[in-house]
Amino acid sequence: MNILITGGTGMLGRALCAVLLAEGHQLTVLSRQPAKVAKLCGASVQAFASLDDWRPGVHFDAVINLAGAQILDFPWTEVRKHALWASRITLTEQLTAAIARAERKPSVLLSGSAIGYYGDCGEAPCSDAFAVPNPSAHDFGARLCAAWENAASQATGWGVRVCLLRTGLVLARQGGLLARMRLPFKLGLGARLGDGLQWMSWIHIDDWVGAVLALLRTESACGAFNLTAPQPVRNIEFTTTLGRSLNRPTPFTLPTVLLQLALGQRAYLLLGGQRVLPERLQAISYRFQQPSLPEALRGLA
Ligand SMILES: NC(=O)c1ccc[n+]([C@@H]2O[C@H](COP(=O)([O-])OP(=O)(O)OC[C@H]3O[C@@H](n4cnc5c(N)ncnc54)[C@H](OP(=O)(O)O)[C@@H]3O)[C@@H](O)[C@H]2O)c1
Repeated sequence: MNILITGGTGMLGRALCAVLLAEGHQLTVLSRQPAKVAKLCGASVQAFASLDDWRPGVHFDAVINLAGAQILDFPWTEVRKHALWASRITLTEQLTAAIARAERKPSVLLSGSAIGYYGDCGEAPCSDAFAVPNPSAHDFGARLCAAWENAASQATGWGVRVCLLRTGLVLARQGGLLARMRLPFKLGLGARLGDGLQWMSWIHIDDWVGAVLALLRTESACGAFNLTAPQPVRNIEFTTTLGRSLNRPTPFTLPTVLLQLALGQRAYLLLGGQRVLPERLQAISYRFQQPSLPEALRGLA
């Protein structure tokens, strides 16, 4: 297949490119740093500096949309919120407009989203059949995901099959959540967050890539899919399991007030949670390679 990928230089994009290249697909990555694409994504990968590079006559069989500025890195000032919005929603709108202009449309658009779509769900399990009609005005993350999904879904109007990747906390050897947690845990400073009862819905990076490939190939698949392992855990269990995988104790608690003072609105992402179940992935018979957290973490330790 000839595939266009946005965000291909990121943690998830690079892992996906490696597997797609090994399967013999031709890849083009849209990037703000086109000169780095071959080094980051693979020597044969072409770079687009802008969607204007998608010339008439160029056909992509599939588009995979992963671009987005980092959610947790900087305080959510109005300027930062604008960057988070523009890098996802505005870019996705430009992408669907480019799809509309294309003489031959791609068959499928796989577009990023996150389990933050569900907001803080407490104990209620979140099925991917569930659509949040009106995300809380106070939950910027949920509104961001809903608008991102809405922008991607416009491509269905052009006859494109659209799958929305409601991604959980991706566990990988390099980058993402574990890269941030490993050092404090190794120093014996691993701590549960707040009361530690909030749910954490995680997925091993190999399963994230496997699930994306399954959605690419399954022609009947469309709509929202939870990309999470079938066994979400509470924060307290995640903390002790990660500590055990690194042979370190985890006796501490980071109090809610401290997290709120340090992170402001972003604390919501750590103190709230979702108990997400990948029902629709399992309905297309996706078999998880890493369904259990202790084994997943042992492999990545
Ligand atoms: N990793 C996770 O645990 C997780 C969980 C849920 C959802 N997601 C979502 O999945 C997507 C990929 O995640 P990731 O972990 O691979 O992210 P990542 O490593 O931060 O990569 C995201 C990519 O998006 C592009 N990007 C960054 N800032 C941008 C901006 N201001 N404007 C336009 N493009 C920008 C960058 O590509 P260029 O520099 O090449 O332009 C970057 O390589 C993200 O949208 C993320 O929100 C990730």
